[in-house]
Amino acid sequence: TWTPANIIEEQVAAVRALVGDRQVICGLSGGVDSAVAAALVHRAVGDQLTCVFVDHGLLRAGEAEQVENDYVAATGIRLKVVDARERFLGALAGVTDPEEKRKIIGREFIRVFEAAAREVDAERDVEFLVQGTLYPDVVESGGGTGTANIKSHHNVGGLPDDLRFALVEPLRTLFKDEVRALGLELGLPEAMVWRHPFPGPGLAIRIIGAVDEERLATLRAADLIAREELTAAGLDREVWQFPVVLLADVRSVGVQGDGRTYGHPVVLRPVSSEDAMTADWSRLPYDVVARISTRITNEVAEVNRVTLDVTSKPPGTIEWE
Ligand code: XMP
Repeated sequence: TWTPANIIEEQVAAVRALVGDRQVICGLSGGVDSAVAAALVHRAVGDQLTCVFVDHGLLRAGEAEQVENDYVAATGIRLKVVDARERFLGALAGVTDPEEKRKIIGREFIRVFEAAAREVDAERDVEFLVQGTLYPDVVESGGGTGTANIKSHHNVGGLPDDLRFALVEPLRTLFKDEVRALGLELGLPEAMVWRHPFPGPGLAIRIIGAVDEERLATLRAADLIAREELTAAGLDREVWQFPVVLLADVRSVGVQGDGRTYGHPVVLRPVSSEDAMTADWSRLPYDVVARISTRITNEVAEVNRVTLDVTSKPPGTIEWE
């Protein structure tokens, strides 16, 4: 029978058999999947695991701090934090194509991990890389049966061909609700286990257009407001995920005070889902939508229009890129 405890036991044994006494590294994204994968591998091989948190500059407000403080406190895992903001933003400069963004981010992640791995053990190569790949990621990147390649998830289809790590993917057959159950069983705090999914490529795929510091700051501010208001309304668990998307290459005319503005629209994309393979747009109460809209247009100078995405998946995907 399927119980979180059984799955953990089975995967712990499998990871031990695979890894032996060798060193393993794991990239933490701040999301649920990598957090649970790391906790599981930590249970299997203890201090042979080093986690690497790459601050790629594409994170939301407060995310780096949450991983650096709360996760380490909860698990006792050894963590290396790499400030790679310049590297990622440099590589992404001027890039607008969604798949190209994903490929670049996947590649840079691996390069950063390789450098971090060399620091973990200068004598011997670290051979294993843990990834929090779930079953839907495998299917949607074309690795499953009979499904077209929809997007290169950076942790599946987006890996470089010359990858020199063997992958350890203990969650590869699981769905998100199962991963959450595993996380609770492994003793991770509820606030972490119930976090909304967040894509590895981060805010880069929520800026429609090229990515730069200024656009990231704009999106981060709008995103924080949406998250605060959703939490204040007590809707975090009803909503699967709530991307905010910045239409950075679109401008719209507005009026504020007695002046004309020429700013950018953002799109609110709250969705309800079981496993992210299909989704429906969330019927958020209009007063919540109104509060978010008022606050964003008042508090984020570059944004003068807020729109709501009312597309299900299919035909839309959850993320815009
Ligand atoms: P889509 O946009 O394909 O997203 O409907 C399905 C789910 O996957 C997340 N997502 C990603 N997660 N790396 C990730 O780890 C990625 O490259 C990636 N792209 C999308 C998305 O946020 C949603 O939960």
